Parts: sequence; C-alpha cells; structure tokens
Amino acid sequence: MRILRNHHPNASVVLHRGDCLPFLRSLPARSVMLVLTSPPYNVGKTYESRSDMGTYLASQRLVITELARIVHPEGSVCWQVGNHVWHGQVYPIDSLVYRDFIDSGFRLRNRVIWHFEHGLHCTTRFSGRYETVCWFTKSDEYKFYLDRIRVPQKYPGKKHYKGPKKGQFSSNPKGQNPGDVWAIPNVKHNHPEKTQHPCQFPLELAERLILALTDPGDLVCDPYMGSGTTVAAAILHKRRAAGADILGSFVEIAEKRVRQAANGKLPRRAFGRPIYAPPANTPLTTPPWDKNGKRGPQSEQ
Ligand SMILES: C[S@@+](CC[C@H](N)C(=O)[O-])C[C@H]1O[C@@H](n2cnc3c(N)ncnc32)[C@H](O)[C@@H]1O
Repeated sequence: MRILRNHHPNASVVLHRGDCLPFLRSLPARSVMLVLTSPPYNVGKTYESRSDMGTYLASQRLVITELARIVHPEGSVCWQVGNHVWHGQVYPIDSLVYRDFIDSGFRLRNRVIWHFEHGLHCTTRFSGRYETVCWFTKSDEYKFYLDRIRVPQKYPGKKHYKGPKKGQFSSNPKGQNPGDVWAIPNVKHNHPEKTQHPCQFPLELAERLILALTDPGDLVCDPYMGSGTTVAAAILHKRRAAGADILGSFVEIAEKRVRQAANGKLPRRAFGRPIYAPPANTPLTTPPWDKNGKRGPQSEQ
C-alpha cells in the first residue's frame, strides 16, 4: 500500500506529520465525506500543552471553519470529545464548540453518548464513564445508511398485540437502530487494540460512523489521528483516508495500523461483541468481606 505524506488527488492514504490546520487547508473544498476525530481536550496530556480555554477554543474555531470548507455537501463531521477539567470543575467541550459548528453552517443530527466502564476513580464527584460524539451534517441531504449498523433486537419474537397486524412479528428482521447511547469498551491495558498512544478510541466506534455515513471510495479524514484508529477503520472498509498528527511517533503507529488493516492483520476487538459479563460465584465476583466490611482469611492468602 502506498502511503503519502501530503495531499494528492489520487492518494488512497495520506498520513501527514504536522499541525492539522495547514494540512486541512491543503485539502480541496468539498472533498471529504466524513471528518471523524477526537481533538486534544486541553487537559495537559503528553501530546499537548495546556493553554487557557480562550486560546484553546480559538484554535478549535479555526479548524472547524476549515472543516466547513472541505466537507462534501452530503458529508458529516463527528467530533468525539469528553470534558476539560480544571480545579475540579468540569467543562463539557462539546457544549463549548457547539456554537462554532452552527455558525459554520453545520447541523447537529445526534449527540451520541459513548459509555464505557473503566476510568479514573473520582472521590469528589461521580467518576466519568462517558464521552460524546457530536454528529453534524453539512446540509439536510446527507448520507446515512442505518441498515448497515443495526444491532440485534432485544425481543425479536415480539408481536403486534392489536390492530390489523395483530399476531404478526413486529420487529425489523434487519435489527434495531443502535440508538444514541453506545456501550463500547474503551481501549485500556490489555484491550487487543491498545498501542503506545495514551487515549485511543475503539475501532468499533469509528467503524459504526464510517459505515453509516460514507460509501466505499469516499474520503475519511482525521486531523488529530493519534494512533490512527479512524484511518485504519477507513481502510478496513475500503474508504480513502487522510490523517494528521503533530507527533511523528504517533504517525508511525498510525502507519503500522493502516498497513495491518490493509493486510487483514489489524489486532482488534470483534465488531459487535457484547460487553463482557463475568460469571457469578468465581473468586473475582465473590465479595471477600462479610456484612460488616471485614475481610475473610482467604483474602490474605
Ligand atoms: C485524543 S488524541 C486522538 C486519538 C485518536 N482518536 C486515536 O484513536 O488514537 C489527539 C491527538 O491529536 C494530536 N494533536 C494535538 N495537536 C495537534 C495539532 N495541532 N495538529 C495535529 N495533531 C495534533 C495529538 O498528538 C494526539 O495524538
């Protein structure tokens, strides 16, 4: 697979090392069907220097304005973010950039809650167990293929209980709409997709959006690609991909994953696999304390 470093009209994969803003400016108008990205949250991760919120939001505004130029009229932007946290106060980033998207002409279709089970254990507020994906479209005529991402029905044997269809099965045999709360494990510790990157999102999150919002051959762009989850998912599903990251070490990880995706060797958690529910009555699922909170002798072995 040929991977280019800069935009070229015939490229199937471009992985750019550098600031995303000039990279986005190099892309032709209306050329991208989907921008799927998770920008820095301005929380002082290894790959960002924390700045005041005004500076951070001004830089995001420049990027959002550029997205309005490059996104195809039938295309979308999916902005995946969590909270900026400062002195124990929580600032939801999607709320802070919402106005910039609307002022740039985008229309919000869904604010998907991505729920996961693992993360920091807070002691002065509830532990955060979700982030959001705001899905914006450029117009009212947009690509959306629900049937490709339906999920199994909870009650496939349910029947109409009254009316002319009484007694007939009522659920869609293709599955149900996945809704706007998606439970997908986050990429931690021994997750099969884990790389050296500190905050990847899972392939399944990217794949759902790519399948629902683009066709094969469309261009998918991630201006803050990190470990390359979006670009690798795009290649898995025969889309073209363009990504940028400011750190060369992350571009290398992304390149490796894109090549693995092209060769059918990308390590991954199976698409659609249910959340793991541990079996009852094992040492791990049996409380090692009595009703007074005292630990039994076996807990010290
Ligand atoms: C939240 S991470 C993205 C993770 C990605 N979704 C994944 O699954 O691996 C944000 C990324 O943006 C990169 N970044 C920060 N500022 C940037 C900039 N101005 N231009 C391009 N990339 C930048 C960081 O190096 C980091 O890898």
